[in-house]
Amino acid sequence: MQKIVIVLATIVLLFTSCQSEKKEKPDIKIGTKKKETSSFDVGKRIFNGKGKCYTCHKIDKKSIGPGVVEIMKIYKEQNADLIAFLKQEAEPIVDPETYAVMKTNFAIIKTFTQEELKALEVYVTDASNGKTE
Ligand code: HEC
Repeated sequence: MQKIVIVLATIVLLFTSCQSEKKEKPDIKIGTKKKETSSFDVGKRIFNGKGKCYTCHKIDKKSIGPGVVEIMKIYKEQNADLIAFLKQEAEPIVDPETYAVMKTNFAIIKTFTQEELKALEVYVTDASNGKTE
């Protein structure tokens, strides 16, 4: 009986140690993946994907909303906080008259994490300086 217990305990030990080894490998992979995907890339993907920003914002010209270059020029001049605006904690400063249109997108923006908002900020800042990829 004791032998069986020892054998069982050994099996459990082997099994769990194998499992933790297995767990470590994907963790390392995720780590390197994150390094490869820059905030710029994450922000760009959100801007052109689930954020739907591209439907109203072009980079260098006005469409439904002001162009990214213009927005960032004003944000830089006024040292304004883009993330605060996206969190609806700051008033619009670029074109308050059409803010109602921008507001329709906050339902989507509200679902973003702080990291995603930061990535968006990195993307629009870099894109306004001419970076494309
Ligand atoms: C339905 C159209 C629409 C969509 C989608 C949209 N915007 Fe806008 N956005 C606007 C309009 C119109 C303005 C100008 C009004 C204003 O200044 O708030 C604006 C203004 C802004 C401003 C300037 C705010 C200020 O201080 O005046 C920022 C920053 C911005 N948008 C970011 C984004 C980001 C990031 C996304 C995607 C997550 C996005 N917008 C999606 C229409 C849109």
